Amino acid sequence: MTPLLEATALDLAYGPVAVCRDLSFQVMAGEAVALIGANGAGKTTTLRAVAGLLAPRAGTLRFAGQTIDRLPSHARLGLGIALVPEGRRVFPFLTVRENLEMGGFRHRHQRRHVARLIERGFAWFPRLRERAGQRAGTLSGGEQQMLALARAMMSEPRLLCLDEPSLGLAPIVVQDIFRTIAAINRDGTSILLVEQNAHYAFATAVRGYVLRGGSIVAAGPTAALRSDERVRAAYLGGSVGASGGI
Ligand SMILES: Nc1ncnc2c1ncn2[C@@H]1O[C@H](COP(=O)(O)OP(=O)(O)OP(=O)(O)O)[C@@H](O)[C@H]1O
Ligand SMILES: [Mg+2]
Repeated sequence: MTPLLEATALDLAYGPVAVCRDLSFQVMAGEAVALIGANGAGKTTTLRAVAGLLAPRAGTLRFAGQTIDRLPSHARLGLGIALVPEGRRVFPFLTVRENLEMGGFRHRHQRRHVARLIERGFAWFPRLRERAGQRAGTLSGGEQQMLALARAMMSEPRLLCLDEPSLGLAPIVVQDIFRTIAAINRDGTSILLVEQNAHYAFATAVRGYVLRGGSIVAAGPTAALRSDERVRAAYLGGSVGASGGI
């Protein structure tokens, strides 16, 4: 089976600053894959390359059998790659509903379809419905994360890339968000998840890659990675248990 996303020998850099070296990883259709590693390991940089926000210095990216290296981010979105960026980045001066409409831009000529997709988002997160007319900048951090996730799903992606959705949020909100991420995956959307919270990363993903210093140092089923010393080191700085039952 051809992978949905296939990264081969990617080198990633910001100008003269080399960040990731020789990264190869895959996401199969329907699969949820975690990318884990400590602060500065290169996780966000890798997601940026997948989404088309950073051009690889070397290597190739293929999506659904097509080379996408040279496609800009909007073209990748059109093919079905959506990113929920680190720090959420909702449009603060637009309302919740307007943010969702922006996310559904590719369906803008199908008003009824857009309305259905907005309803789907509201069904995941009823709080967004209650705040539909409120400016996104006035939402709590958790509500902004819900909105960022619902907005990304408005494009009906085949691959949803998530950059630390739990960051800075209370456990009860994180639970709510991960329940929805799991439901989205069950409904057939593939997931590439960057997450510092080991508990949620391993509960959500079936397979994982461990990044350290810009290279993949371990890979495999999350069930096996769970007990891997390199994972503990990358994630927890050596201490076990701090992030809730790894
Ligand atoms: N725009 C940039 N210009 C130069 N260097 C950068 C830039 N963005 C990130 N870096 C560097 O690249 C390395 C990897 O950063 P990246 O943001 O990908 O890490 P990360 O794994 O997402 O970390 P975190 O868990 O803190 O989000 C870091 O050393 C960082 O300083
Ligand atoms: Mg990051």
